[in-house]
Amino acid sequence: MSYPEDLREMVDRHLETVSFSHGAGPDGADTTGLDEAMRYSLLAGGKRIRPVLCLATARSIGEPLEDFLGAAAALEMIHTYSLVHDDLPAMDDDDLRRGKPTSHVKYGEAVAILAGDGLFAEAMGALATAPAPAGRVLEAVSLLSAATGVEGMVGGQYIDVSAQTLDADGLRHLHSLKTGRLIRASVEVALALGGLDEAGREPYRRFASLIGLLFQIVDDILDVTGSDEELGKPRGSDERHGKVTYVSLYGLERARALGAETHQQALAALAGADGETDDLRRIADYIYSREQ
Ligand code: IPE
Ligand code: IPE
Ligand code: MG
Ligand code: MG
Ligand code: MG
Repeated sequence: MSYPEDLREMVDRHLETVSFSHGAGPDGADTTGLDEAMRYSLLAGGKRIRPVLCLATARSIGEPLEDFLGAAAALEMIHTYSLVHDDLPAMDDDDLRRGKPTSHVKYGEAVAILAGDGLFAEAMGALATAPAPAGRVLEAVSLLSAATGVEGMVGGQYIDVSAQTLDADGLRHLHSLKTGRLIRASVEVALALGGLDEAGREPYRRFASLIGLLFQIVDDILDVTGSDEELGKPRGSDERHGKVTYVSLYGLERARALGAETHQQALAALAGADGETDDLRRIADYIYSREQ
């Protein structure tokens, strides 16, 4: 089974239309360069897993996909901002991302920091203006900010860079924050905008947490087994930085076995969902077997 390319194309078409700057004013002040840096990273390619998950969830609960494009773009903007900052010299100090020079290599550190900041803020704006009843939008915004914040991606990055000594549970916790929360939010934001009731959401949520974990297990494995060309980012970055990863803690074989187990658990969770879950299953299979 293959990745839902139709959804990825929808996302890419929509992102092409997004721009952030009003251009130069009569006074000469000009933010076009920042807009260029933001769009450089946003449009550099990428698997679009988070926005595709959002649209696949919308489809699964029978909602019109066009109404979820703003939310999908918001998720990709948050993700792209996290990558731009993750690659900075103060963090992973990587030069290659999505097969191209990283933002700070191309535009300098100051602009890369601002491009990340800009993408973060514009993401919140894109979600806040989603065409749904105000209460649902508010819930979606609050889900996305929580998934991004201290008990979300940013907190996970903090644990990652502060070289804490972690046991297996600690590593799982780190992964669930650093990567898992935003992936889970990609599903949850769609459930909130679609107004699905609590009981209906539960299987989707379990599924989303498990594929979030699976995603980072596979990312850790690929950091060891992949190539720069396939990954579009430098292989071996984790080892160079002495990162605790699924591979460093368990070894490759056991990490692979945990990946397989988590994949099966995710599919089992999805089987409890009411809607048409074909696309979501394809995404889980892709996350498990991807090589880039
Ligand atoms: C990479 O994410 C960063 C992690 C969260 C591990 P992706 O592998 O989804 O990166 P792109 O969006 O395809 O470039
Ligand atoms: C970072 O994890 C995930 C983010 C929140 C950006 P990694 O540092 O492992 O991501 P890659 O491998 O550089 O994409
Ligand atoms: Mg990192
Ligand atoms: Mg990194
Ligand atoms: Mg990695």
